[in-house]
Amino acid sequence: MLRIVFATVAALAIAAPAYAAEGGPELPKLKWSFNGAFGTFDRGEVQRGFQVYKEVCAACHSMHYVSYRNLADIGFTEAEVKAIAAANEVTAGPNDDGEMFQRPALPSDRFKSPYANSKAAAAANNGKAPPDLSLMAKARNGGADYIHALLTGYEKAPADVQVPEGGNYNKYFPGHIIAMPQPIASEGQVSYEDGTKPTVDQMSRDVSAFLMWAAEPKLEARHAMGLKVIIFLVIMSFLFYGVKRRVWADLH
Ligand code: HEC
Repeated sequence: MLRIVFATVAALAIAAPAYAAEGGPELPKLKWSFNGAFGTFDRGEVQRGFQVYKEVCAACHSMHYVSYRNLADIGFTEAEVKAIAAANEVTAGPNDDGEMFQRPALPSDRFKSPYANSKAAAAANNGKAPPDLSLMAKARNGGADYIHALLTGYEKAPADVQVPEGGNYNKYFPGHIIAMPQPIASEGQVSYEDGTKPTVDQMSRDVSAFLMWAAEPKLEARHAMGLKVIIFLVIMSFLFYGVKRRVWADLH
C-alpha cells in the first residue's frame, strides 16, 4: 500500500514540471510595485503606460470598460482628463431629428474603440479581431508578466516552424503564431515627458502596468483594507488576551 502511495506521489512530482511546460516557456518574473500584500501602483509608470496604449495599442485594441474619467485615479488632473477625452471624436445621439452625430468625447465616455465592430476589427487584422484589453491583465495567467513577455517575445521562428502569411512568431504566445505584428519594436517609439528612457523593454513594462491598473483599479483599496483588517485583528488579540487574564486571574 505504502509503495503505491509512494509511486503515485513520485509520478506526480515528475509530471508536474511537464504540466508547467505545456503552457509555453516560463515567463520572466518582473518586480512590480503593485505586487505583494500592500503594493500600490506607481503613478508615473501607469501614466506612461497609458501613453503607450494611446499612441500604439489603441490603433487596434479597444478598452471598453474604462472611461476617460477613470484616468483621474492614476493622477491625471480634471483638466487633463477633459483634454484627453476631447481629443477623440465619438458618435452620439440620436438628436431631436433622430440622427446620430459626432462630438468630442466627454470624461464620462468610455475609451473610443478603433473599429466599429468586431467583424471590421477582424477584417483589418488577418481575420483575428484584436481583443479588448480592459480586463486582459486578469484574463491571462501571469498577468502583467505575461503581457510584458508577449510584447518582448517576438523572435525569428525556429527553422522547423512554418509561419503562415499574416502570422508572427512569438516565444510566449500559446501556439507561438500570433496575428498581432510586434507592436513595440523600436526604442523611442513614444517620447516620455518625465525623462524615462523609452526602451522597448521600458515601454512594454509601462503598458503592462497600465493594463494591470485597468483590470484591477480597486487593487490599492483592497490592499489598504487588508492592512486595516490586520491592525484590527492585532488589537483584538491583545484585548482578548487581557480579558482572558482577567477572567482566569482568580483561579491562579
Ligand atoms: C496592428 C494591430 C495591433 C496593435 C497596434 C496591437 N495589437 Fe495586440 N493584438 C492584435 C491582434 C490582431 C491580436 C489577436 C492575435 C491572435 O489571436 O493571434 C492581438 C492580441 C493581443 C493580446 C492577447 C494575446 C493573447 O494571449 O491572446 C494582447 C495582450 C495584446 N494584443 C496587447 C497589445 C498591446 C499591449 C499593444 C500595444 C503596445 C498591442 N497589443 C498593439 C493587433 C494589434
